[in-house]
Amino acid sequence: MRAIAIAKPGGPDVLTLVERPRPEPSRGEVRIRVRATAINRADLLQRMGAYPAPPDAPPDIPGLEFAGEVEALGPGVERLAVGDRVFGLVGGGGYAEELVAHERTVARIPDGLSFEHAAAIPEAFITAHDAIVGQAGLRGGEILLVHAVGSGVGTAAVQLGRALGVFVIGTARTPDKLERARALGMNAGVVPDGDRFADAVRTHGEPAVVLELIGGRYVDEDIRAVQVLGRIVLVGLLAGARAEIDLSGILRKRVRIFGTVLRARPLEEKIAAMRTFEAQVVPLLQRGLIAPVIDTVMDLDQAAAAHQRMASNAGFGKIVLRC
Ligand SMILES: NC(=O)c1ccc[n+]([C@@H]2O[C@H](COP(=O)([O-])OP(=O)(O)OC[C@H]3O[C@@H](n4cnc5c(N)ncnc54)[C@H](OP(=O)(O)O)[C@@H]3O)[C@@H](O)[C@H]2O)c1
Repeated sequence: MRAIAIAKPGGPDVLTLVERPRPEPSRGEVRIRVRATAINRADLLQRMGAYPAPPDAPPDIPGLEFAGEVEALGPGVERLAVGDRVFGLVGGGGYAEELVAHERTVARIPDGLSFEHAAAIPEAFITAHDAIVGQAGLRGGEILLVHAVGSGVGTAAVQLGRALGVFVIGTARTPDKLERARALGMNAGVVPDGDRFADAVRTHGEPAVVLELIGGRYVDEDIRAVQVLGRIVLVGLLAGARAEIDLSGILRKRVRIFGTVLRARPLEEKIAAMRTFEAQVVPLLQRGLIAPVIDTVMDLDQAAAAHQRMASNAGFGKIVLRC
């Protein structure tokens, strides 16, 4: 099979098209003919040598999500059959024509959704839904603040917020991304003044939940912006892992701040996240209430250009690779 491997830690040019033996499914696993995958920030970090693959994933083939067809069944597989159209998450190995995954970490693709659209869904929608609903307990009628509203995860969160009936405030560093997010259901938008946004956000209302994709000094502003008993979910650290924050705001408002990652979770927790996705998010896709937002589609051998596109911060939504 063809795959994209990281030849050595470095820039996008270390991504190399290679031939690899096709993986064989173990007990409970299926082999999938990948038709499309999508790029994530974690892939860029892995390429630079800053985020090694977990032990159960290929060490040098990045890629955390996929859409494709079941091609072979390992022993004991019960839920899936050869030919099923599926999408899901893996700890790595997505930039390849074939991969293996546990049958309970994949879900069937709704009818009418292309592989390219399906590949743009798992990481963004599972991350966003798990963070704002599963962990922060967002409820209809509350206010949700979504940072980097034009990101893959941000565009998913805005739509989930709209589907849940919450008022969504978004931030982005350029007004055009806010404009595009309005079309997805965002109610109000703020361009931060440097890393200051709390006062501007509060003119629209006090968020109950913050989906924090930026980290760094944004967290102190989140604490200033949220309502009493607000919940801040730390999902990404694009502006850095260290910041000075005013602890008194956490005390006074009784704020909860918690962090989350998908990739490092043990298999049983990934299975639980996928089953929740299948029960609560896939029906919204089927009813057309939410949809993946695609920035660009490229071929597998253009992985380096896809990484450059993501690092440029110019995109809106997901960057997809056809396999
Ligand atoms: N914890 C998890 O399990 C998990 C899973 C998936 C993703 N993530 C994290 O979630 C975040 C979003 O991922 P994604 O794939 O959706 O991102 P993405 O599509 O690449 O978009 C990221 C956007 O963030 C904004 N941005 C970048 N650097 C920034 C900075 N220093 N300050 C302010 N804004 C900045 C840029 O938009 P503007 O310039 O327009 O503002 C950029 O387009 C990343 O940190 C990623 O690592 C975490």
